[in-house]
Formats: sequence, structure tokens, C-alpha cells
Amino acid sequence: MENFEFQCATKMIFGKGTQLRVGEELKKHGATRVLFVYGGSSIKRSGLYDTVVKALTEAGLWFTELPGVVPNPRVSLVRKGIEICREQKIDFLLAVGGGSVIDTCKSMSFGVYYDGDVWDLICGKVRPGDQRIPVADILTLPAAGSEESDSCIVSDETIPMKTGFGSPLMRPVFSIMNPELTYTLPPYQTACGCMDIMAHAMERYFTRTQNVEMTDRVAEGIIQTVLHNLPIALATPDDYAARSEIMLCGTWAQNDMTGCGRAQDWFNHGLEHQISGYYDIAHGAGLAISFPAWMEYLCEKEECLPKLVQYAVRVWHADLNFENPKETALAGINRLKEMIRAAGLPLTLSEAGIGTERFEEIADNMTDGGAHTCGAFYAMTREDILALLDRMK
Ligand code: NZQ
Ligand code: ZN
Repeated sequence: MENFEFQCATKMIFGKGTQLRVGEELKKHGATRVLFVYGGSSIKRSGLYDTVVKALTEAGLWFTELPGVVPNPRVSLVRKGIEICREQKIDFLLAVGGGSVIDTCKSMSFGVYYDGDVWDLICGKVRPGDQRIPVADILTLPAAGSEESDSCIVSDETIPMKTGFGSPLMRPVFSIMNPELTYTLPPYQTACGCMDIMAHAMERYFTRTQNVEMTDRVAEGIIQTVLHNLPIALATPDDYAARSEIMLCGTWAQNDMTGCGRAQDWFNHGLEHQISGYYDIAHGAGLAISFPAWMEYLCEKEECLPKLVQYAVRVWHADLNFENPKETALAGINRLKEMIRAAGLPLTLSEAGIGTERFEEIADNMTDGGAHTCGAFYAMTREDILALLDRMK
């Protein structure tokens, strides 16, 4: 295990009816002027919008709204939000929605204190300072884990480019998590969310750092809990027990608890952000295409095989074949692919309507034209990325 620091101070307020407490919690945390940020119509259809308005009003809080966050959130709306924050002297941001809404608030919260264009922060040209407007959220979609993570991802649709930045100060102050609010999720969105949760566990799990037994076991537990509960949630969308398990997995997969003391990989997220940056597909769908193909690719690399075998045996209950460990690893990957297929997610780029036209560009972007590699579990070169993309066709 490597040395590490871990600090996650987000207050998790979990369970039935907890959204009713949003006004009082905001006041407790010193809010006086709130910007209420949300996406499209889902919170209006579910009645959550009215609940939030009532709770803020009853708490005597001044607030204004910023609707219109779209999946793969746009920097143009972040810029608009920063203007509102400055003009209206906003002192608290309330995100109501999924990762895209929370990430929009996170980037605004630092952007307000930066004199230049917020894209400088997002693309890493300038490091975020230590001033920010605090962010709180009511989560409606377990997936990105942004409700406790220290990072955010935003797109500039004009370039196009999707990238992100982080800060220890970026974790939300509190997150309200009522699994009942996820009953209205369409099956595809539920499945994409679960794929993302598993991917966050796997980005950390696939490491060559030794002696990380406890965090390995926690990551395996997260993945297996999602695997057990996803079919239940798809069959019975209002199954509170299944929705609760998935929601808690979503947060703990991405708050970096399982990343403690190890080198983390993150190749698949880097690749997926390229894909959804160019083609605007759901993040979880992109991960469903890349992860199994990447694992299959790494079965050819001797140094990666032991962890792939461990994953296949412990997560997917594959039989351990001592003579042919690659066969064991592939059995696990095949079970992952079967699960992805059963959940209604794509396994190839063509199934997602994506062609081969950007392959060179993607490989260049990820390696700065071949100048460096990507990923810690296996250092993917430009050539590796092109070969992998070819398998993902
Ligand atoms: O806009 P509305 O109408 O609200 O509809 C949304 C949206 O269309 C809908 N939705 C959300 N909750 C719902 C619901 N529909 C019905 N009932 C509900 N309860 O779901 C759609 C997708 O929402 P979005 O917020 O985009 O999804 P998700 O939470 O998966 O977030 C994805 C974004 O997070 C980033 C991704 O790259 C992507 O941009 N990520 C952020 C991370 C972080 N900050 O730590 C890490 C992740 O790896 C990820 O990269
Ligand atoms: Zn993700």
C-alpha cells in the first residue's frame, strides 16, 4: 500500500423524505442567496421542483433558478451561471439532478472567483484557487458519484472537447440522497448509471500496486452489489431496497475510498470522455463499450493477467484454470459482456452509431500525438489506443 491522504467531509443525508430538509440544511450551512440549478423537465414531472421551491421559501431563503443543464454539460451554461452568481451575489449553489447538474455547479463555484474564462480552469491551463461558492445537491441519478467526488467534467461543444478539473475543496458540503427520487429514471439511464458506478470501482481496482486487500474487497463488494440490484431495479423501478443499494454504491465507488494507497488507472474514463466529447453519447454507454474491450486487450499482457484473473474469479465466480489463466480472465470478461447486453447497453461503437473517422484524433488527443502514454495499470501508447479502438468498432 502506498502513502495517501483521504478527506471527504460531505454530509450525506440519505433516505425517504430527506429532500424536504433542503431549506433548513442550507440555512444551517450559512446560505442566504441560493442559485437553484437543474436540467430539463425530469424534476418538474416528478414534483421535486415544487418540493424544492416550497422548502426554500419556507426556510425564508432568497433564491433564483438556472435550468437547462444537458447531459455532457456545456461550458456556455457554466459561463451564464457565473454571471448570475456575480450579479445576484449568490452565496450557495444548489444542484438538483445527476452528475451533469452537480458538475455544472462545481465549475461555476470556482469560476466565480477566477478573473479569466472558466474554460482555463476546466482544461487545466490554470489551477483552481482556494475560494469557491459552496455547493450542495439533491441527487436524482446514481452514476457519476459527483455528490461526493472532488472533480467535475464539462464540455466545450464548439471545439468539441470534454475534460475536467478537481480540487479538495470541490466536494459538495452536503448531498441529499433519497432513493425514491430515482424511481422515475428510464431503464437506459438506470443501466448507464450502474455501468458508470462499476467503472469507478474498476478504474481503481485495476492497479499493479500490491497489498491493497481491503480496498480491493470493498471494490468487489460494490461491483457485486450493483450486479445483484440492477436487474431488480430494471424489473421493478420502485424497489426501494434495490434503489438504495445502487445509490450508496454510486457514492462510495467514486468518493475515492477504494482508491486509497494505490496507483489508479483511469484510461477508460479518458477514452470515454473523448468519445462522449465528440459524439455526445451517455457516459455509461461509452464505458460499456470500452471496458470489456480494454480488458480483453490486456489479457495479452502478462503483467496484467493476475489482476484480471482475480477479478474474474472473485467478482464473476469464474473457475480458476491454473494451466490457462487467460481463459479464466476471458470467462470473467464474457460475463461482464453478457451483463452489459442484458442491461440494454451497447458493446460496440457501431451499435452506438459511431464510426472510425475520429480514431486518429482520439489517439493523438490522449497521448499528445504519441508523446506520452495513458493509464497506470497498463501504459497505453498511441498504437495501443488505435488497436483498441479497432476492436471496439
Ligand atoms: O435533464 P433532466 O430532465 O433532469 O434528465 C436527466 C438527463 O437527461 C435524466 N435524469 C436525471 N435524474 C432523473 C432523470 N430522468 C428521470 N428521473 C430522474 N430521477 O438523466 C439524464 C442524464 O443526466 P446526467 O446528469 O447527464 O447523468 P449522470 O449523472 O450520469 O452524469 C453524467 C456526467 O457526469 C460526468 C460524465 O462525464 C457526464 O458528463 N462524470 C462526472 C464525474 C464526477 N464529477 O466525479 C465522474 C464520472 O466519471 C463522470 O465522468
Ligand atoms: Zn464515470
